[in-house]
This record gives sequence, C-alpha cells and structure tokens, in this order.
Amino acid sequence: MARDGAVYACQSCGAVQSRWAGQCPACGAWNTLVEELTSRPPGALKPTKPARGRHLAFEGLDEATPAPRRIATGVEEWDRVCGGGVVPGSAILVGGDPGVGKSTLLLQVAASAARRGAACAYISGEEAVEQVRARAQRMGLADASVKLAAETALRAIVDGLKAEPFDLVVVDSIQTLWSDAHEAGPGSVTQVRAAAGELVRLAKKRGVAVILVGHVTKEGAIAGPRVVEHMVDAVFAFEGERGYPFRILRGAKNRFGATDEIGVFEMGDAGLAEVKNPSALFLNTAGERAAGAAVFAGIEGSRPVLVEIQALVAPSAYGTPRRAVVGWDSGRLAMILAVLEARCGLSFGDRDVYLNVAGGLRISEPAADLAAAAALASSAFDQALPQDCVVFGEISLSGEVRPVSRMDSRLKEAAKLGFRRALGPADAERTDQIAFTGASRLADAVRRIHDADWDGAP
Ligand code: TYD
Ligand code: MG
Repeated sequence: MARDGAVYACQSCGAVQSRWAGQCPACGAWNTLVEELTSRPPGALKPTKPARGRHLAFEGLDEATPAPRRIATGVEEWDRVCGGGVVPGSAILVGGDPGVGKSTLLLQVAASAARRGAACAYISGEEAVEQVRARAQRMGLADASVKLAAETALRAIVDGLKAEPFDLVVVDSIQTLWSDAHEAGPGSVTQVRAAAGELVRLAKKRGVAVILVGHVTKEGAIAGPRVVEHMVDAVFAFEGERGYPFRILRGAKNRFGATDEIGVFEMGDAGLAEVKNPSALFLNTAGERAAGAAVFAGIEGSRPVLVEIQALVAPSAYGTPRRAVVGWDSGRLAMILAVLEARCGLSFGDRDVYLNVAGGLRISEPAADLAAAAALASSAFDQALPQDCVVFGEISLSGEVRPVSRMDSRLKEAAKLGFRRALGPADAERTDQIAFTGASRLADAVRRIHDADWDGAP
C-alpha cells in the first residue's frame, strides 16, 4: 500500500495509479511507474459540500464570432505555423531535441515581437540571465525590449506575470519548473503537469500568449505526460537532422490553424535565418542529376516544396539485404519495393536498398511514392532521370499511379524553379510550361525510366 499522499505516475502517459506495477495499466509501457508525493493525502480530496453550479449559457452555431486577434511576431516562418500569428490567451508547447535551437528560436520570436511593440518576457529555467543576454547580443537582438528572468519556481513566475501585463511570455523549459505545492522533483509528471496547468490557466485568464519549451524523450515524444499536449492549444515540433543547418518547425496540433504547416530555418552564426524558398534548399542543383535521384514535387502545409529523393540499389554483401531509409517511412519503402517486385518485375531480394531525402527534410505525403519508386528504378537500371524532371503520384498495392492533391501547384512551383518535365499520374491536369509524362500504372513509369522515353520536346 502506498504511503499517505504517495501515488505512482506513469512517466510515459501520465496516468496515476494508487499502487506500483511493473507495467502501466493505462498505456502498457514497462517500468514507467514512479512514486510521486502529492501534497494532499487522498482523503483530503473528497469534496466537503456539493457546490451549486451556475446556469449554463448556451449559444447558437450561427452567431457571429470575430476572428481571434493575433500577434504577428514578424518571424514569418513562425507566424505561418501558428496560423497567422500567436493568439493572445493561448498556450503553445514547442518540443525538440536538446541543442536543436529551441531557445534560439524563441528568443528571436520574442525579440521580433517586442520590436513590433508587444510586451514580451523570456523566462529561462536553464540558463542564467547573463547567458541569455550574451546570446541575444551575439544574435544582434540586444536592442529589443524583451524582459529577461532566470527562474524555476512556479510561484515566483506566476506572481511575476500577474504583476506585469505581458502580451507574450516564453518559458524555457517546462521541465525545469517546480511548484512548492507538490513534493515530486522537477521534471516529474506531477510537476510538469502542475506547472503547465497553472501557466495555461494564467494565459487564458490574463490574455497572455504563453510559449512553453518542452524537451523530448529518446522516442521523440515531449517528455512528461501526454496531458500537457492536451492542455495547450498548439504543439509544435522543432526538428533538424544532425549535420544539416536546416531546422523545421512543424505543427502537430493547432486549435487556431492548420497542422500540416511547416516553417523552415537555417542555423547560422547569428541565430536562425528564415528560409523563404525551401525548394532551393532541398534540391541538389549543382551538376548533372545522378542515376538514383528523383526530384519530388511535394506540398508541405500551404507551400509547394521540391526535394530530391536519392536511392541506391547495390548488390548485397551479406545474407540479409539491408534496407535503410532517412527522411521517409520505412514501412512505405517496403511497400514500394514489394510493388516494384510484384508488378514491375524488378528484384531487390539480393540487393541492399538505401533511400535518402536530401537536406534533412522528413516527408510523410503519399504523393512521394512515385518519386521514391522512380529513384529506386533509376538506380536499379543505372539510368538517370532527365535533369529538369519532377515526379509525384501515389502508388496503390495493385500498382496503379493515383492522382494526388494540388497537382497544379506542384507543377507551377516546378516551372518556377526551371523544371520543364514532369512524371505523374496519367489524369493530371497539364500546364503548358511543363512537358508531362503520364503513367496510369507504375510499370509504365518504370518502362519510361528504363527506355528514357519522355513525352514532349526537351
Ligand atoms: P539552443 O537554442 O540552445 O538549443 P535548445 O534550446 O533546443 O537546446 O541552440 C543550441 C545550438 O545552436 C548550439 O549547438 C549552438 C547553435 N547555435 C548556432 O549555431 N548559432 C547561434 O547563433 C546560436 C545562438 C546557436
Ligand atoms: Mg535551450
């Protein structure tokens, strides 16, 4: 039996149990239940007297609602992921690996918003004020009127935010905060949940936009309970592939905007620079396109993005052939390989297959299927695709090439960047700037690649 006031909280899902178990009964994770002391013994939670409720005021669906006011911070890539700026009274959680640049990004966002007249605060629980200031100076932000504080005590932060009317507050990070109402250590589920709950309430009550930084676990989830993700209005992931300067801000949840939007940044000596035209960044434009490379005309959020997909198909040196994929789903790769084998007569059984999305981008669109298949076929035949060709289309298990969304935007972006050919679904709309090779089946597309048989004039 647990001690008075002690409960066992799952560090993975946040479920609270009254007794310890090896496996969390709620989410099934092993060895995640950790004893946490709550302030009140369980008995004290009983309500003493049933409270009288207020009358609910119902409203109709058709009543006029003004669009939420937004604070445009001036960091456009950030604002777009937010859905056009930060909504006052909302709470945003930004997660990412250590060192990816969360603190850098949010300092820039706060400084930029402050320059446009918003009252901004940056509260760091990880770094001293001097460190934050030195970084701001290095990034050329010293003139922005952001108020800095280094604090981890939740009570002090809440009191401080009540005392001054801020528009936007960054709290870096939620895992460093502790509330004296709970005995558990900082970073524990109880503390993270308490701190997030308190700050979200404060945001709603005072109309402050609160941005919380959250660390992520090895598995990529934001550390601490999932409940924090449910409490906030928006969850953004800040991602970057090791060794690349590119950083991508991706909406995972957004009550005030679309979730498939991305913001692209490049980390440099003076902080993060916004990348307004990401296509140029993910394309390898120098020299001839090698065999095994295909340019995918993709859509990320509201923007078309061209990105090179590289494949290498090589004889396998070991008994079990290797499949390695970076920036794409490995299950999807297995499916495409199976369709290429079953429907197009290619064989990968004794060959290693590597697939890489250039520039560190992660692609989740099914529209990339045909581009991946084209890269694989191109490598298998050692036959390069035309330098000026983009590819898109979804592939079904039966080997059909299916139409995808917004084909006209994809072709327009390709034309804008100097591409003159496209390979895609047979019934795609055509534009006059691009010579379109349509394939209704993957086998047609593979034959076209093998024979270098392209429609239209070069
Ligand atoms: P940081 O914002 O501290 O990451 P996080 O808060 O996500 O842990 O960024 C840390 C990395 O960014 C660090 O490795 C150095 C690099 N960096 C630059 O390359 N240029 C810069 O101008 C800044 C401020 C950081
Ligand atoms: Mg940091």
